[in-house]
Amino acid sequence: MPPSDRTELGRRCQRLIGALAAVTDDPHGVTRLYLSPAHKRATGLVADWMRTAGLTASIDALGTVRGHLDAASGPGAKRLLIGSHIDTVVNAGRYDGVLGVVAGILAVDELRRRRVALPFAIDVLAFGDEEGVRFPTTLASSSAIAGRLPPGALDLCDARKVSLREALVGFGLDPAQISAAAYDPAEVLGYLEVHIEQGPVLEHERLPLGIVTSIAGQTRLKATVLGEAGHAGTAPMNLRRDALAAAAEIMVMIETIGRAGAADSLVATVGQLSVSPGAVNVVPARVDFTLDVRAASDPPRLAALAEIRARSREIADRRHVGFVMEAYHESPTTPCSPRLAAAFAAGVERLGLTPRRLTSGAGHDGHAVHHLTEVGMLFVRCRGGISHNPMEYAEPEDMALAVEALIGAIEALAASIPAA
Ligand code: GLV
Ligand code: MN
Ligand code: MN
Repeated sequence: MPPSDRTELGRRCQRLIGALAAVTDDPHGVTRLYLSPAHKRATGLVADWMRTAGLTASIDALGTVRGHLDAASGPGAKRLLIGSHIDTVVNAGRYDGVLGVVAGILAVDELRRRRVALPFAIDVLAFGDEEGVRFPTTLASSSAIAGRLPPGALDLCDARKVSLREALVGFGLDPAQISAAAYDPAEVLGYLEVHIEQGPVLEHERLPLGIVTSIAGQTRLKATVLGEAGHAGTAPMNLRRDALAAAAEIMVMIETIGRAGAADSLVATVGQLSVSPGAVNVVPARVDFTLDVRAASDPPRLAALAEIRARSREIADRRHVGFVMEAYHESPTTPCSPRLAAAFAAGVERLGLTPRRLTSGAGHDGHAVHHLTEVGMLFVRCRGGISHNPMEYAEPEDMALAVEALIGAIEALAASIPAA
């Protein structure tokens, strides 16, 4: 096969991303939750693409598709990991995560077409649990490759009371093999990920690509407000213990704290809410909601969490309702590797572009992979900075540049390895 030019690379990115967008659990949009039937079909498709690109494809115990390319220098060489995720949020865009997997596969395919011999092996990884939407865990698949899947994660259940263990078995995987999914840190050279920016900076500065310096820390929590059910017609307003009215006041307080932290890129989101008993004529007795808090560095995030806890307690006491809040996921701010950033910068500069450095507000598999090896990330401009939304869009030309920059980074790393 001859090498692809930039236009052809962009077309190939778009074609593969379009094909994966058609693999969905919801015919009205792209929804591919971890270990769902659509995720299963997606793993098959990605494995086929990997084989076509000359990679040996397999799937690990957490459902990560792994495409392996041997080193030209023979056995015993280290592995460079390249990856991203193929799970999505509900009613997602088509680029979040998928672009990184497609870019990894196309970069390897191009290296082969261009007859580049590498002194290291490559594993392209398609993770399944980056979004953390189905189970009250997140980054299970990338944590497993770092040997850090939390004990007890297998017993966590989704909204239908299916445990992660049951879902893995239903998918055809063997939870007893989880420890075998972990890499030995000594055999790994680093981890590279291409991802849409999911923010407006690159578009604003008219730059197609950016190099990530750190990934913002995040805390995910579950909260419950407990009041008392009552008759909507007879319970006097001043005698009610309305769990939803209390939750509403707590949510507005959370938003106010988030807004006040703009200088630290603090953001606080209540994304899920369930009210019970949930009837038009019953005072709500119980509200469960989720909270996601992030900031560019750890101290403002931790300070905001402490303030949210204290003020929620005050609101709950004043309204005579119970309140509990529990964190179920915490990723500290993750620094990206200067060495891998320099490799991406070499790839970007080779294209005649400025290697703009920026931080990531979104979370990524790098949070977990960082415990195994150094992480490098390349961001790709996306229209309006929109993500987690069907409107998500990246230009084929920008995606082609990202694949070329990834190839450049791989070649820069190869050049930095002394000949055996
Ligand atoms: C993943 O996309 C996250 O940042 O929540
Ligand atoms: Mn993502
Ligand atoms: Mn996402």
